Amino acid sequence: MLGLGPMGRALAGALLAAGHPVTVWNRTPGRDAEPLALGARSAGSAAAAVADAPLVLLCVRDHAAARAVLDTAGPALTGRTVVNATSIGPDDARANAADAQALGVRLLDAAILTPTPTIGRPEGTVLLSGDPEAFAAHAGTLRALGTVRHVGADPGRAAAFDAALLDLFWTTVHGWVHALALARAEGIGGAELAPYAQGLSRLLPPLIEDFARRADDRHHPGDRSSVASAAAGLAHVTHTARARGLDTSVLDAALALTRRAVTAGHGPDGVSSLVELLSA
Ligand SMILES: NC(=O)c1ccc[n+]([C@@H]2O[C@H](COP(=O)([O-])OP(=O)(O)OC[C@H]3O[C@@H](n4cnc5c(N)ncnc54)[C@H](OP(=O)(O)O)[C@@H]3O)[C@@H](O)[C@H]2O)c1
Repeated sequence: MLGLGPMGRALAGALLAAGHPVTVWNRTPGRDAEPLALGARSAGSAAAAVADAPLVLLCVRDHAAARAVLDTAGPALTGRTVVNATSIGPDDARANAADAQALGVRLLDAAILTPTPTIGRPEGTVLLSGDPEAFAAHAGTLRALGTVRHVGADPGRAAAFDAALLDLFWTTVHGWVHALALARAEGIGGAELAPYAQGLSRLLPPLIEDFARRADDRHHPGDRSSVASAAAGLAHVTHTARARGLDTSVLDAALALTRRAVTAGHGPDGVSSLVELLSA
């Protein structure tokens, strides 16, 4: 296990709990107390850590950090399977796999979709992509991490799932913080608003299913709600927020896109039709 931040420690802990021998290394020494207490061995360098390891897990801050660790380990990685569980973009995952292949390293990219407390439990969700044979060879070990799925031979595919889901997550988080600011400007506290926000979130699961089907079919009937109606709704929320002096940049962007759809003739279509406008 290369990298002992909160996630690296959680991954090492899950492997140890499942009975796998684990050697750990971290750039900054002294961060291995937790895995050592669980039975891990510690190595003084990345190269020493991977020396006896058929399977290497890498989990550090970002793409640059992952490349730095891979470079540090260097030729010691040849012949091994490396799972890069660092959050990176799809193109970086593809470039990593190509570079690794040239060095005789089998690299799988992993996207961890759930936080540290879920790791090693069924709700811990890890998607992997890249070399299917490398995945098949190590799937039994990797299943110690939680619910583990191989989503394709394209090394960038797990990172693409991750990016799409984080797109949803972060725009949702921005929606919620903006709603809290708007409510505050109107003298409504977060605790007062929260139950109604929870109610809204319960409407999302069927909407997610419905929009996904419509996007795949490229068919967006305006039977239940229309783009034109959404534009009117967004306009009044944006107006209210601006009147209270709030930053409306996120709402402005959503309103501008929705109005563009109306101008393009999608007013009577369902709101899911916006995906067609967003797609290049
Ligand atoms: N925490 C979560 O719940 C969670 C969930 C899903 C995905 N992830 C992903 O998992 C990865 C690791 O996250 P994390 O929570 O463990 O904490 P983090 O703070 O993102 O990463 C800390 C780790 O990165 C190492 N690091 C940073 N820069 C480095 C460099 N230039 N060279 C070598 N090592 C470097 C740190 O080493 P030092 O100790 O030497 O600084 C430490 O091992 C991230 O990509 C994150 O997005 C985390």
